[in-house]
Amino acid sequence: MNLVNHCFRLASRPVGLPKRSDWTFSAEPVGEPGAGELLVKVLYVSLDPAMRGWMNEGKSYIPPVEIGAVMRAGGVGRVIASQHPGFAPGDHVAGAFGVQELAISNGTGIVKVDPALAPLPVYLGALGPPGMTAYFGLLDVGRPAAGQTVVVSGAAGAVGMVVGQIAKLQGCRAVGIAGGAEKCSYLVQELGLDAAIDYKSEDVKTALRERCPQGIDVYFDNVGGDILDAALTRLARGARVVICGAVSQYNRTAPVQGPANYLALLVQRASMTGMVVFDYAGRYPEATRAIAGWIAAGKLKTREQVVEGIETFPDSLLKLFRGENIGKLVLAVAQEGAA
Ligand SMILES: NC(=O)c1ccc[n+]([C@@H]2O[C@H](COP(=O)([O-])OP(=O)(O)OC[C@H]3O[C@@H](n4cnc5c(N)ncnc54)[C@H](OP(=O)(O)O)[C@@H]3O)[C@@H](O)[C@H]2O)c1
Repeated sequence: MNLVNHCFRLASRPVGLPKRSDWTFSAEPVGEPGAGELLVKVLYVSLDPAMRGWMNEGKSYIPPVEIGAVMRAGGVGRVIASQHPGFAPGDHVAGAFGVQELAISNGTGIVKVDPALAPLPVYLGALGPPGMTAYFGLLDVGRPAAGQTVVVSGAAGAVGMVVGQIAKLQGCRAVGIAGGAEKCSYLVQELGLDAAIDYKSEDVKTALRERCPQGIDVYFDNVGGDILDAALTRLARGARVVICGAVSQYNRTAPVQGPANYLALLVQRASMTGMVVFDYAGRYPEATRAIAGWIAAGKLKTREQVVEGIETFPDSLLKLFRGENIGKLVLAVAQEGAA
């Protein structure tokens, strides 16, 4: 087998928004998988806001990507050669394959997926880490009860669109915050949320007062910054704030903007809890069963936005920070039929 792999390797630690020169794009020969290894042809690469954090030096919930290493990314692909007892050529698999066309793996952290049950990009969205994050973040950390008000920011994105729909399935009033009229109309018209707030054209604090007359029982935060601060002012007694992410802060060159209104937690006897989806890995089958069941029953909609071409990776990643995606943003690397 004489194969060439195109891959993005981290070249420098970005300051602010990443730029193309923060990676090198190279063509490298790939050998045969060794004993206990498999070779995966990557079909789709997951684009995630967290990738920006993985490029930074310093302590986090996962080690940084080393300079010179292939850029870390989730993906789905097809096994094209295997010396691993658990995987055979033709199997479709999901795992952290990186931003590259071909990945050699020892099988750790790799799961088989079935393209007959759902299109492959869905395994990077509602049936992948974003869906798991939404499920455990909302249900385990947010603990919403029927009739309560759930507010989610980044509501039209991969995690947020699942949070809003699960909130509705729990019998909650669901309010989504997103940027722009198109996203807000999608949340209400397509996903069935009770209300949406366009943070780009509305004053979020005023809109929350209007659209959450009983206050907020669960605030699921994907964005941080001013929107988190606005949500804190509307907390109901005993509210739970789920800190899932802070996409508004990831490219800041100044220190992270902390919540000024945190004393609302004291006044409302509320809590604010950070969550990392990996902590729930042992329970992914439970979430997968529930989400797949809702999808099959027509109760939960999935949406993926697929951009083409591995070479577009640096600019395609920035779509997340420009708000240019609705649903899960995925990079198509190769055609399914290709060798
Ligand atoms: N804790 C965990 O284990 C875990 C796991 C997965 C993801 N996450 C976090 O979950 C959040 C959502 O991730 P995702 O994959 O679902 O991404 P996503 O929501 O599909 O994409 C990012 C969205 O963020 C919004 N955004 C970008 N810049 C913003 C800003 N300055 N202010 C407000 N909104 C902004 C944009 O939507 P608008 O057009 O609406 O602005 C954009 O579409 C991220 O914070 C991510 O880090 C956490």
